[in-house]
Amino acid sequence: MKYFLDSAKIDEVREAYDTFGIDGVTTNPNHIKLSGKPFKEVLQQFADFVKEKGIEGYEKFPISVEINPHLDNADDMVAMGKEIAGMCPNFVIKIPCTLAGVTAARRLEQDGIRTNVTLIFSPSQSILPMKNNSLFISPFIGWKENSGEDCVQYIEDICTIRDNYGFDTEIICAAVRNGKQFNDCAVSGADIVTAGLQVYKDSMYHPFTDFGMNKFQAAWDATVTD
Ligand code: E4P
Repeated sequence: MKYFLDSAKIDEVREAYDTFGIDGVTTNPNHIKLSGKPFKEVLQQFADFVKEKGIEGYEKFPISVEINPHLDNADDMVAMGKEIAGMCPNFVIKIPCTLAGVTAARRLEQDGIRTNVTLIFSPSQSILPMKNNSLFISPFIGWKENSGEDCVQYIEDICTIRDNYGFDTEIICAAVRNGKQFNDCAVSGADIVTAGLQVYKDSMYHPFTDFGMNKFQAAWDATVTD
């Protein structure tokens, strides 16, 4: 399973890439806002980063960049998608899962521009973008579980649909909030999870690991080791 970082902050991307290793990045307009930087400046930072690391190209390190969420027709979505894709070969165009969005994603894929259809909340929404060969789909997990839904069946159904028809689209479980959700996504067969930096850090913590370290340190100190 691949780990993507959900962030528009270049220092977080750098930290996650240089320490535990991430396989790509996802952003959305909210992450761009939280970065405190203008949209195009964030994109330029990403473009500089992949050059610096020698990982140019979406096959090596995909970075999903969302189009203007006010766009409501396929022509405008395609135009903005092409403009963003022209800025860096790592950019994958993130498009909402509306009928216009799926139409735009299909047209971009036909023109060789890779897409990530986002804001998916049901298995039925996942089918058309997979049929149309979008590179990624992003079913959201955290938002649904926050409102009381269990997501295991939902992820399993999307993975089953992918497998039943041999779709090449990779499934990004998005808005993952905790280690339990990482586990659910991995067991269900999702290809990728995307989460914030702190979620990855927290998922590596277990109090028994600290307990064990303390116990073994005490044993080490009470033992002649030479
Ligand atoms: C996924 O691709 C989205 O960017 C993301 O997970 C949205 O959720 P969040 O910003 O609430 O984490």
